[in-house]
Amino acid sequence: MLRLILLTAIFLSLAIYEIRCQENGNFSTIYRTCKKNGWNYPLPECIKHCDERILHTSKSTVVQCRRGYKSVDCNNIVPGTIAKVSCAHGYKMADTISDSGLYEMTCTSEGRWDKNKINCQPVCGRQMSLSIPSASNAPWHVGVKTDVNQTCGGTIVSPKSVITAKNCVQDEDGIPLDANKVSVAITGNLNNGTIHILTVNVSEIIVEGDIDVALLKLSEILTLSMNTKPICFTNAEAITKSDRAFLHSWTENENKCGDIFNKIELQVLPNAECSANLDQTHICVRPKYQLNGNATLCERDIGGGIIVEYNGVNYIIGILNHKHSRVIVCTNEPVVGIVFNQIPHALRRSIQDDKESQYIYI
Ligand SMILES: *[C@@H]1O[C@H](CO)[C@@H](O)[C@H](O)[C@H]1NC(C)=O
Ligand SMILES: *[C@@H]1O[C@H](CO)[C@@H](O)[C@H](O)[C@H]1NC(C)=O
Ligand SMILES: *[C@@H]1O[C@H](CO)[C@@H](O)[C@H](O)[C@H]1NC(C)=O
Ligand SMILES: *[C@@H]1O[C@H](CO)[C@@H](O)[C@H](O)[C@H]1NC(C)=O
Repeated sequence: MLRLILLTAIFLSLAIYEIRCQENGNFSTIYRTCKKNGWNYPLPECIKHCDERILHTSKSTVVQCRRGYKSVDCNNIVPGTIAKVSCAHGYKMADTISDSGLYEMTCTSEGRWDKNKINCQPVCGRQMSLSIPSASNAPWHVGVKTDVNQTCGGTIVSPKSVITAKNCVQDEDGIPLDANKVSVAITGNLNNGTIHILTVNVSEIIVEGDIDVALLKLSEILTLSMNTKPICFTNAEAITKSDRAFLHSWTENENKCGDIFNKIELQVLPNAECSANLDQTHICVRPKYQLNGNATLCERDIGGGIIVEYNGVNYIIGILNHKHSRVIVCTNEPVVGIVFNQIPHALRRSIQDDKESQYIYI
């Protein structure tokens, strides 16, 4: 809102005018005097600023501003300023918007942007170099920790949500834990060859019915990087009905959690191999290789994503959820998971709600 406010004051028979430009409650004040032959100085003009806030509301974009050839701050944006919007690391533009990766908005003389602000979409399911064993091989894989010292696996399904097994976030009696008792361990960026594990708080745990799956809403939007990316999901049967899958697992040493993940190849078996009466919400998997008889799937793998790679992109098809007995912590036997496409509506809706609208309107 922008307007001129003229206030008069009578001072020795001269009218002194106070002139203010108003924007968002801030004023800059200028005084002018009305003399017999006119104003003592020309009247100032109020310039309309374009709304800068829409440029700063999304983690999915990076904005640079310039006026002429000079780069300027993206604050107090005056007409003629051009804001160049590009995608933050780990995000891409929708193909319908731009194939050049360039999107520019100009602040018009009316103080309005000539175009909508766009948001970018997370790039899912992509890995960096597979030759170096590091967290970037499974940037969607996280640890789920609780105050009862349980460590489970989990999978980033959007920059705001992690999916895991419900039994990872409840106590011994099956009572759900408070969200503030649960956190997620995420591998941060490589810094001078060192890896840091980021602990992200959970603000809400979404469960529905008896199905052993839980969606953890994170208390912050993740910054995507080489080591932090969401997984993809799909309805394509070529992927969801695959007989080969894999799962990432923490190394045994808990202090090194996040350093390097083990990749466990899985065979997807008919449900009957797990149990005679499993319905279609379940998936049955078994480690493909049984190294010298050593048990491969362990308790700490519960909640981890059952992943299928297809044309270089990785998709989640299930969530491992079998709870081993206290005695047997690792196994090579068939293990049950929940089919990702069968997760309850409340969880699915919440993941969909994380999606930023493509455009933010002017
Ligand atoms: C108003 O001015 C103050 C002081 O210069 C500044 O800190 C603040 O951001 C301004 N507010 C707006 C809405 O421009
Ligand atoms: C969790 O682990 C810490 C350190 O290993 C230990 O001091 C603490 O007693 C454990 N808490 C529970 C509830 O087991
Ligand atoms: C996460 O939760 C802990 C314990 O409730 C709190 O001390 C910490 O400040 C929180 N961290 C963030 C980033 O909110
Ligand atoms: C199997 O486990 C034993 C004992 O922990 C270990 O020494 C051996 O290296 C393991 N074998 C493989 C192939 O991992």
